[in-house]
Amino acid sequence: MSLKECKQEAIISLRNVSKYFQGKKTIDNVSLDIYCGETFIIMGCSGSGKSTLLRLMTGVLRPEEGSVCIKGKDIARCNQDELDTVRKAFGMVFQYSALLDSLTVKENVALPLREHTKLAEDIIDIIVRMKLSLVGLRGYENHYPSQISGGMRKRVSLARGIALDPDIVFYDEPTSGLDPVVGGVTDKLIKDLSEKLLITSVVVTHDMQSVFKIADRVAMVHKGSLVAVGTSEEIRNSDNAYVQQFINGNPTGPIDFFKEETNIEEIFGL
Ligand SMILES: Nc1ncnc2c1ncn2[C@@H]1O[C@H](COP(=O)(O)OP(=O)(O)O)[C@@H](O)[C@H]1O
Ligand SMILES: [Mg+2]
Repeated sequence: MSLKECKQEAIISLRNVSKYFQGKKTIDNVSLDIYCGETFIIMGCSGSGKSTLLRLMTGVLRPEEGSVCIKGKDIARCNQDELDTVRKAFGMVFQYSALLDSLTVKENVALPLREHTKLAEDIIDIIVRMKLSLVGLRGYENHYPSQISGGMRKRVSLARGIALDPDIVFYDEPTSGLDPVVGGVTDKLIKDLSEKLLITSVVVTHDMQSVFKIADRVAMVHKGSLVAVGTSEEIRNSDNAYVQQFINGNPTGPIDFFKEETNIEEIFGL
């Protein structure tokens, strides 16, 4: 399949998805298609429901209403075995790198290979070296997470995310806590990996620098609803007031923190 054909086929399809926490609707009737091979960004304020949406797409959470189809399989309804099979095609990169401090860089990247395959140690070794060189970390195999910088730890978690050659990689706030330059390097790496390895990337972020640098398409979430979906260009030029307030960081506009019942800790991402 050519990249062009690939980009017209939905690999992830959400239809009328709603999720409740303690009776409160947190995700509200979301329908969304993410196409094969694209880098899709989900942006929105803290507490808007971005991570919840990601957890619904990865089957960590199941919605009360609607369907979440991955390559045509509804993971909102399938059994645990079927879900495990679908999830083998996923890579996940979490907000705080989530590396195990007691394991070396090499052992951290090898974890999914040990868990999900029966590959021999020497093969795992070759794959780990290959993945580490893809993220520019050849030679760091035997370092511990505490011996490398925050940006490098993030790259180790990227290498671990692509260890099983996934079709889809989900990233939750991949540049949070990084300085702008290291954040920029991480963004470029996400984009390069997506293009070189033909991976579909779904990236949750509130980092505007990332959005326009790497997105093919962007969705904006506000209070659990999708308020806009479009190409980077369409979003940049959108006349949607929520989008304009968010991308320009305006303190006033339809997103009114102080008029709404909001949790101050969420606003500041605490
Ligand atoms: N497991 C949970 N139980 C109860 N409430 C939750 C849970 N996860 C998220 N929430 C609530 O759902 C809303 C959206 O959270 P989240 O998806 O983490 O937002 P974001 O990632 O955009 O910051 C928040 O109000 C949060 O407190
Ligand atoms: Mg979040």
